Amino acid sequence: MTDGKILVHNHKGGTGKTMVSVHLAHHLARSAGPGGKPICVWDADTQGNAMSWISEHQWDGRESFRYTEDGQAPIVATIDPEVALGQDRLVVDTPPTGTFIEEFLSVARLTEEDVLLCPVDGRNAVSGALKVAEEVAPTGCRMIMVHNRADPKKSHARTEIEALEEIAGHEDIGAELFRLAIPSNPDYMRRAEEQGIPVWDLSYASRTHTCKALRTFCSWVGNGAPPDDNPPAGGLGGNQKPISKSLNQRLWN
Ligand SMILES: Nc1ncnc2c1ncn2[C@@H]1O[C@H](COP(=O)(O)OP(=O)(O)OP(=O)(O)O)[C@@H](O)[C@H]1O
Ligand SMILES: [Mg+2]
Repeated sequence: MTDGKILVHNHKGGTGKTMVSVHLAHHLARSAGPGGKPICVWDADTQGNAMSWISEHQWDGRESFRYTEDGQAPIVATIDPEVALGQDRLVVDTPPTGTFIEEFLSVARLTEEDVLLCPVDGRNAVSGALKVAEEVAPTGCRMIMVHNRADPKKSHARTEIEALEEIAGHEDIGAELFRLAIPSNPDYMRRAEEQGIPVWDLSYASRTHTCKALRTFCSWVGNGAPPDDNPPAGGLGGNQKPISKSLNQRLWN
């Protein structure tokens, strides 16, 4: 993975910014191994949802804490921008406000080393993604959209993907689209959030499409999000069976 910053942002609320930030941090910490550099999560949202999730709901309002687990690099979770901006490996969970990028750019830079991940869920979130893409375009930062909470049974999932493909197809916007959707799984995701753990640590969850797609997304981002390996040819979730072909075809073909 590069040492660039990873911002997770969409103007629209409830699209999965915190969910993606928390899972990415766990994935990066785990793949870095015990000797690896700490992964910092800057919870830039006053709701503190990432602080709560990462601390297994033990967060007492402290500005920063360190989450450690055997066999993986530490996660430093903070609400303090100074602590965050001093770290090499940074994931930023952002608030759903239209002014965030502007505020961020007043204290830090974004360059082509950095990535903005934009979870999209629902029609309003598509327009949010477009605004974000326009905002970050002048910085040179990569902007990658990912369709989260997809419900392949609903016809609008396909419509949303078409809208995202259209945004990604515009050369002057420069947005990319991760070519796998993360399906909705309210039951497992709620339990993961309630327990303050990544969803793939719940028993039996790792065989769900949601876990497979989320894992694949996190490792693709961790590998520097190679555009020519999108969707990753290695299949979903390492050695597991690929995500149901029919599910993906319903969405993408
Ligand atoms: N793929 C998914 N399947 C089911 N539930 C999900 C999925 N992704 C996120 N959720 C749930 O949806 C809710 C909103 O997600 P999350 O808090 O990550 O969004 P957000 O963009 O950070 O919201 P906010 O704008 O309020 O910060 C959470 O309860 C989360 O657990
Ligand atoms: Mg959030």
